[in-house]
Amino acid sequence: MQQDKPFSQACENNKAPILEKLRALFKQPGTILEIGTGTGQHAVHFASHLPYLVWQPTDHPSNAQLSRAWIDDSELTNINAPLALDVLGGSWADLPAIDGVFSANTAHIMGWQEVQAMFRGVSEVLPQGGIFCLYGPFSYGGRHTSESNARFDLSLRTQAPHMGIRDMEDLKALAEDTGFVLEEDFGMPANNRLLVWRK
Ligand SMILES: C[S@@+](CC[C@H](N)C(=O)[O-])C[C@H]1O[C@@H](n2cnc3c(N)ncnc32)[C@H](O)[C@@H]1O
Repeated sequence: MQQDKPFSQACENNKAPILEKLRALFKQPGTILEIGTGTGQHAVHFASHLPYLVWQPTDHPSNAQLSRAWIDDSELTNINAPLALDVLGGSWADLPAIDGVFSANTAHIMGWQEVQAMFRGVSEVLPQGGIFCLYGPFSYGGRHTSESNARFDLSLRTQAPHMGIRDMEDLKALAEDTGFVLEEDFGMPANNRLLVWRK
């Protein structure tokens, strides 16, 4: 077991409630593309509990190998080696065939141009009828769902103006432009949501 693996407390807190949703959403065997995998804690947790899926972790080239330690330690055979994928300008065509997409806590870290590129890219690689599950904090009609989300949004925008909690009105318009409909919007612990976009 490798020591000092990258660690996210948020992943530990949210992995069980997210798993329960994914179990109901991804019922058939298939390959799930994860965008912005980060530490790999999610990848390992979901792949170990959903053994009929093949998990394909990806992340921005600067972070693409961050998940290695968790994946290698897990010894799971249903997680592919992590791939570098920058949603903006990355090579979506080089990905293996996929059946579904998952991404957590990425839309508020990416600039809006990258969020747009993510939806366009997912639309390119997802078969018709496939789903794109996007987890994180979101606002509605410009209003945050909690004081803590409002503070988080301000801290993101202060750190870097391109970051910030995305608004559902903007996401729905983007989804419509890129061939998705919002099928579900699940409330999750800690003022997060799990959005299910169907192509
Ligand atoms: C807050 S972390 C979330 C990581 C993990 N999904 C989680 O829930 O802990 C945001 C992730 O988005 C990734 N990211 C940011 N910009 C990206 C881009 N242009 N293409 C792909 N991934 C990107 C970062 O590398 C990082 O892994």
